[in-house]
Amino acid sequence: MTKDFGAKPYLFPMPTYMIGTYNEDESVDVMMMAWGGICATDMVALNLEEDHKTVANLKTRKAFTLAVPGVDTLEASDFLGIASSNQMADKFERSGLHATKSNRVDAPVITEYPLTLECEVVEMQDQPYGLRVLGKIVNVIADEKILDEKSKIDAGKIQAFAFDQMQNDYYGIGDKVGKAWNSGAYLMKKEDE
Ligand SMILES: Cc1cc2nc3c(=O)[nH]c(=O)nc-3n(C[C@H](O)[C@H](O)[C@H](O)COP(=O)(O)O)c2cc1C
Repeated sequence: MTKDFGAKPYLFPMPTYMIGTYNEDESVDVMMMAWGGICATDMVALNLEEDHKTVANLKTRKAFTLAVPGVDTLEASDFLGIASSNQMADKFERSGLHATKSNRVDAPVITEYPLTLECEVVEMQDQPYGLRVLGKIVNVIADEKILDEKSKIDAGKIQAFAFDQMQNDYYGIGDKVGKAWNSGAYLMKKEDE
């Protein structure tokens, strides 16, 4: 038995990414974004609603940060996906998070987020289905708390969480369950090979 749901944006897991920009008065804005991600080796794509303050900031500053929050900042991050700097001048302040200026792009780096991509806006595509912003990754910043003994980023240490669009829930991203391009590789061989 199956059930049809019609044409819905139902995929799981959806990411939870935080887009950081500067407002015109140099204050920080951060919004939650689930509709986007990596689209080339050095590029990200953001699908954004035109009326967000973030979009106005991207148009003027041509830069942003994209960060992955850990569950320790889930409540603040969710709040940043509800409130808009268009209506709430002290939005970022209220989140209780902190920021420093990126050394490479005109955007804030949020101190509490363990993994941050510093990006420059390459293109803002006004598509019939919405606004798509393409950003070039100029650097990745990782907090040392998510590095392993070889100084590589250990995704498990991020304690990231995924968004469930079907029921508006967040799910913790847990244990490592396999190795990419490896766990199934033995099936490439026939038994008698
Ligand atoms: C889980 C979640 C996912 C979201 N994903 C997106 C998204 O992909 N694109 C978007 O435009 N807004 C998304 N939003 C909504 C914005 O984060 C929200 O409208 C925010 O208030 C915009 O802030 P700003 O006006 O200060 O830029 C999401 C919100 C939540 C809670």
